[in-house]
Amino acid sequence: MRNYKIGVIKGDGIGPEIVDEAMKVLDAISAVEDINFEYSDFLLGGAAIDATGVPLPEETIQGVRRVDAVLFGAIGGPKWDSLERHLRPESGLLGLRKAMGTFANLRPAIVYDELVNASTLKPKVVSGVDIMVVRELTGGIYFGQPREQGKDKAFNTMVYSKTEVERIARVAFEIAMKRDKRVCSVDKANVLEVSQFWRDIVEEIHKDYPEIELSHMYVDNAAMQLIREPKQFDVILTGNIFGDILSDAASMLSGSIGLLPSASTGEGVGLFEPIHGSAPDIAGQGIANPIATIASVSMMLRYALGEESAANRIDSAIKKSLAEGYRTGDISAFDAKEVVSTTEMGSIIANYASK
Ligand code: IPM
Ligand code: MN
Repeated sequence: MRNYKIGVIKGDGIGPEIVDEAMKVLDAISAVEDINFEYSDFLLGGAAIDATGVPLPEETIQGVRRVDAVLFGAIGGPKWDSLERHLRPESGLLGLRKAMGTFANLRPAIVYDELVNASTLKPKVVSGVDIMVVRELTGGIYFGQPREQGKDKAFNTMVYSKTEVERIARVAFEIAMKRDKRVCSVDKANVLEVSQFWRDIVEEIHKDYPEIELSHMYVDNAAMQLIREPKQFDVILTGNIFGDILSDAASMLSGSIGLLPSASTGEGVGLFEPIHGSAPDIAGQGIANPIATIASVSMMLRYALGEESAANRIDSAIKKSLAEGYRTGDISAFDAKEVVSTTEMGSIIANYASK
């Protein structure tokens, strides 16, 4: 039996509810895949502020170094919004990404055939969409120095070093090699020096991947093209803030932000989380969609633990539950046979996955 240590950060809002369902699915495949999962909980965000006074306790930073992968729910909520910036839940998450060195954020946007009617776009535009957004996660304007909020002016700086661009470009090219071998690098090189720099380095790294078709697009155009004709994209490579914005836009192609997972990988242990937030407005009601988090453990099995068969098992179980017409509230308007709660959806997927 293989044994993996999983760090678990449930977080705030709907975080605990959806993470519990993902763990339920992991436990359900344990016997049939001959894998044992050993969990340890860590605090982050609002939950950490309430318990320790800071959003990223030292114990969490140390603890996640000792596990094989980290499963994360979501953080944040109105309760902590008025705190100083460095004490806010979001600062905890950014600090954790930096501490873990997870510079590559993979955000797939796929459209499940079963949910092709759930998108606000026409089925012919979205059916078959399969995009991988590769977002640089530990640099750019999120982390650039200097930064300041003064009385009469405020500024942030968008900074990228050569090494930072090189390594994220390599991640994108490597992923594209296993897909349709097309990379579209998104920037704002018509205005920003940092983007022209990004573009030049991506071109440089591309020389090592002659089989890949590389294109460049300005971010404003990319936002438009994602809505106009999403199927033109295979891998989108972009920086931190553009990737943040474009991945939210891309997620809606699938019909609900509650469906899409993400993986943050890089220098060591990876962090796996749904791309949505903590949704405080629906927390505690048992209506959140656990699929994004369940799909995140599938990415964890595939990318961090090399357990492809277990990952496939979970992916098929998600598809089957949708094909059978089970829907949480966010997607209940689309070909639903039965509207189910968060825990029911988790149990249904766990059950299919264990067969
Ligand atoms: C995300 C979130 C975070 C980000 C926030 C919560 C700091 O929006 O993971 O996309 O901007 O990166
Ligand atoms: Mn975001």
